[in-house]
Amino acid sequence: MTPRIIEPFRIKVVEPIKLTTPGERRDFLEEAGYNAFKLRGEDVLIDLLTDSGTSAMSAEQWAAMMRGDEAYAGSRSWYRFRDTVQEIFGFEHVIPTHQGRAAERILFTTVCSPGDVVPNNTHFDTTRANIEATGARAVDLPTPEGLQPAEPHPFKGNLDVEALRELLDEVGVERVPLCMVTVTNNTGGGQPVSMANLRAVSELCRERGIPFYLDACRFAENAFFIQQREEGWGEASVPEIARAMFALADGCTMSAKKDGMANIGGFLCTNDAQLSRQEENLLILTEGFPTYGGLAGRDLDAIAVGLREAMDEDYLTYRIEVARYLAEHLTEAGVPVVQPAGGHAVYIDAAAFLPHVPPRELPGQSVVAELYLAGGIRAVEIGTVMFGRRDPETGEESTAKMELVRLALPRRVYTKSQVDYVVDVAAELAARREAIRGFRFVTQEPVLRHFTATFEPRYEMEVGG
Ligand code: F0G
Repeated sequence: MTPRIIEPFRIKVVEPIKLTTPGERRDFLEEAGYNAFKLRGEDVLIDLLTDSGTSAMSAEQWAAMMRGDEAYAGSRSWYRFRDTVQEIFGFEHVIPTHQGRAAERILFTTVCSPGDVVPNNTHFDTTRANIEATGARAVDLPTPEGLQPAEPHPFKGNLDVEALRELLDEVGVERVPLCMVTVTNNTGGGQPVSMANLRAVSELCRERGIPFYLDACRFAENAFFIQQREEGWGEASVPEIARAMFALADGCTMSAKKDGMANIGGFLCTNDAQLSRQEENLLILTEGFPTYGGLAGRDLDAIAVGLREAMDEDYLTYRIEVARYLAEHLTEAGVPVVQPAGGHAVYIDAAAFLPHVPPRELPGQSVVAELYLAGGIRAVEIGTVMFGRRDPETGEESTAKMELVRLALPRRVYTKSQVDYVVDVAAELAARREAIRGFRFVTQEPVLRHFTATFEPRYEMEVGG
């Protein structure tokens, strides 16, 4: 028998987590307007809200932080950071930012005009919001299998190349300042994009003269999936695959809070010298001087080490196995999840789990609230709360294409027994799922409403234990 896959690290520092009772959690939920973003972190037992900025740093990263050089301009940290990014990503110009969305804002305000269209396999919420803030339109072009949660497919994150071709014909290339592909496709279930698909998108973009960008947040996980699943790549190393992915693109945005293994940071890359000058001007205005971009020297050093650790294949083997294990056991417990598991997260299919709760009654919101109440687990809705819109004139609510609840796995943070606990709590929900009903909005803001909205349940929530 092959021994099971284990965490390839030892724990050196521990952070206690607070146990709470269901009664206490009910009070916390009510105070938070049933919005998990408004809970205090200390009142959460297992925090699966996001894998962003929540990684445990390694001894090497902490050591690198001590070497951080805080010179305002041209620090040693900057050169270590820049050289690492250039080596891994292969782009000429590197612009540091405090996180991914700052890179997005700088890129899109530089290249987008009102009426423009930016395609992507699926835009993440901040990407969409930053595009829309310029007056441009963000268009999602997932493949049909990407929208079928129960359908296993090795590369459900792919962009629909034919749909892209049609879009370019329809709107005209002059209206498309760039095309983007998000690796892995976070909003679409953390699913990877194949090298073949990246190549096809890249070729089409080059044929039409459109810059092709990667939203590279989870590039290492995507590269590992290519190695594991795509013919012809089994013998290549993760850094080699990453280089091959980036060689197809003209630039990228990156949140180092994901596969940078850092608690803060990001960057923007391009091979276009003129564009990078324009972007740097904007950077100086709002983020900082181009050799630190809103980050401390020690952050730049932590990222430089973290980017390499994220590509370590023992680590990736363990990471992808944890997601697979969680998905398998949730499925066995009667909780339908997006198949196969994503890289950084497992996505509960709330529409299938609660078929009696229509999308307008926010089934994902019910699952999020129930997971917290039953077990102190914090997840995030990726469905109508996040992507639906209220028409300001009619008050009519539009719904999302899928009603998902993401259980995001912070990197190197939780143990296997904590993952088993999540399965136990979800199984308890599955046993009484008919009794779970929907939610309604009490308040909501017009932009990125999921962060601040408040809700109320349409039923009496059961408080166990
Ligand atoms: N692009 C993708 C695909 C993301 O997942 C995120 C962040 C960003 C861009 C923005 O980066 O947070 O550093 O500004 N995703 C986090 C999440 C917040 O929970 O999935 P950021």
